[in-house]
Amino acid sequence: MLLGCTAPTPAATETLPPPEPTTEPPMATSQAEDYRDGSLPVERRVELLLSEMTLAEKIGQMTLVEKNSITPEAVTEFAIGAVLSGGGGYPQPNTPEAWAEMVDGFQQSALDTRLGIPILYGVDAVHGHNNVYGAVIFPHNVGLGATRSPDLVRDIAQVTAVEMAATGANWNYAPVVAVPQDIRWGRTYEAYGEDPALVTELGVAFVEGLQGASLAEPSSVLATPKHFVADGGTAWGTSRTENYELDQGDAQIDEATLRAIHLPPYQAAIEVGAQSIMVSYSSWQGEKLHGHEYLLTDVLKGELGFEGFVVSDWQAINQIDTNYYEAVVKAINAGIDLNMVPYNYELFIQALTAAVENGDVPETRIDDAVRRILRAKFEMGLFEHPFSDSAYLEEVGSAEHRELARQAVRESLVLLKNDSAALPVADDARWIFVAGEAADNLGMQAGGWTIEWQGKTGNSLTEGTTILDAIEERAEGAGVQVQYNRFADYERITDDAGQPIIADVGIVIVAERPYAEGRGDSDDLTLSEFDVNAIQRMRERSERVVVLILSGRPLVITDQLDLADAWVAAWLPGTEGQGVADVLFGDYPFTGKLPYSWPRAMGQIPFDFTTLPETGYDAPLFPYGYGLDATNPQPVTVPECVP
Ligand code: BGC
Ligand code: BGC
Repeated sequence: MLLGCTAPTPAATETLPPPEPTTEPPMATSQAEDYRDGSLPVERRVELLLSEMTLAEKIGQMTLVEKNSITPEAVTEFAIGAVLSGGGGYPQPNTPEAWAEMVDGFQQSALDTRLGIPILYGVDAVHGHNNVYGAVIFPHNVGLGATRSPDLVRDIAQVTAVEMAATGANWNYAPVVAVPQDIRWGRTYEAYGEDPALVTELGVAFVEGLQGASLAEPSSVLATPKHFVADGGTAWGTSRTENYELDQGDAQIDEATLRAIHLPPYQAAIEVGAQSIMVSYSSWQGEKLHGHEYLLTDVLKGELGFEGFVVSDWQAINQIDTNYYEAVVKAINAGIDLNMVPYNYELFIQALTAAVENGDVPETRIDDAVRRILRAKFEMGLFEHPFSDSAYLEEVGSAEHRELARQAVRESLVLLKNDSAALPVADDARWIFVAGEAADNLGMQAGGWTIEWQGKTGNSLTEGTTILDAIEERAEGAGVQVQYNRFADYERITDDAGQPIIADVGIVIVAERPYAEGRGDSDDLTLSEFDVNAIQRMRERSERVVVLILSGRPLVITDQLDLADAWVAAWLPGTEGQGVADVLFGDYPFTGKLPYSWPRAMGQIPFDFTTLPETGYDAPLFPYGYGLDATNPQPVTVPECVP
């Protein structure tokens, strides 16, 4: 039994005597009111609590600390408002139970403060509760974009919320509602696609799924559309972070473009009740978003009427001024309400305290920030149920959750080419050869943000079914022999007479290796030599060749297109490889549609979408929305090159 899980602090009304009949003016009644009283309206509770807070307690509420940088005791001492696990921020051992104990421990420390304000505990559960060993891992958003299915996305978000609630994490840094205009960006796969309408529709569905019918439900968690705004609109080479190129760079676009392409998902998310929005590391027209008062305060909070809180990104305010004090002043005045410090919280608290005392940050700004944070906490029902819900523990990575992920994988597959009826695999096939490092590699099929921030190759990182396992299992049932060799080297596979076996179908899985954020910025999206060689070798040893692409974005395959009969974009499907086998073997149809235009050559990227698709258009290999249905094959021709 987890400490403190079963006995939430009773609402004050339950312990207070019923109000005495009184002839006194209303003043007396309001003095007896308590912010702990769950029957009072949220706005009233916010004001009651705020009026009791010291400056130190207010600044504590505005402080978000990474869990390895703070002890539970310090959460109490500094009245910290929020704690997070970054990518890879798991406890030892990495079990749902240990997570619950860790998060509940921080929560208890928050409840031990004078005012007992619960913390938000944040995680990046961007494709399932993906830092937790054994949690179900869904396809990354690029694959969900291909499904075009808001209902599916809503269900996925709901399952993710339940797995989070099991561990006490109540705040999700998702969905990414970036609208990437350049697939060289390392965060392309975190987004639903290049089209603002698609991103808006699926982003809204994800917010709805996480937050449920009411944020106060125990299985609801707080959503965080991110990263505000135009993180997907930056120009190559403008980043000043590490060796990043696009990530954290500068969106050199005019305001009309920013409003038309990058703003709509936020507007829609606010309309369905988003209460927290994360700011982008990137800049707009040379000015960092973290110091951008016009966009954060005038546009987001003013024009769009956002009443929730604005959270900064990881150590991001440090980027807006080399002088930390100045950075803090600028960021808070620009409209940041909660600062993801994430390490040196004492330094932040000192700086902001000094800034208020010096009059550089007005107290009204502090009160506004704290009001927004408290409003979300009250609406979440955190004061009533602050702890993890152990009833959900058995649902983490459950068969039912995995079934939903398998469905998502099926629906995310996009059939790019299908000549010679290569797919689905024919009923009379007797031999299947499988090649490619990623065929038997959970880490590669899950991508970045899986257990570790950057993800990790191999099969040990979590539980799931590799694509090879799934193919073998399905083939066995159909009496088909499967041979796997990473390099497509089947020299030793011969018949009784010593003659080489020619497989009916050869499946080559080509892939990107896992990456996250700017580390995935790349101006070379062509296939690796290893993968090209595997396709070539497979050609020699099988009647039909099928290439499955595991990647966070379209890869340039023009030169290899003719080497295979069929090509399938499988994105980053996650832990449920059976979804791939389901469709390859024809148990389910191909229904996915491209969420990004598929380039013919690197030189085409970024596409000039303003000229797409009507005029003088430098045609992609496959346009946005493209996707075949295996029952109705169409020949694929490579469009003429535009010089
Ligand atoms: C990312 C955010 C993420 C945060 C916390 C940052 O590096 O940009 O998307 O929410 O880290 O992990
Ligand atoms: C953390 C991530 C974070 C990143 C930012 C990593 O160490 O694990 O969550 O997004 O740093 O640079």
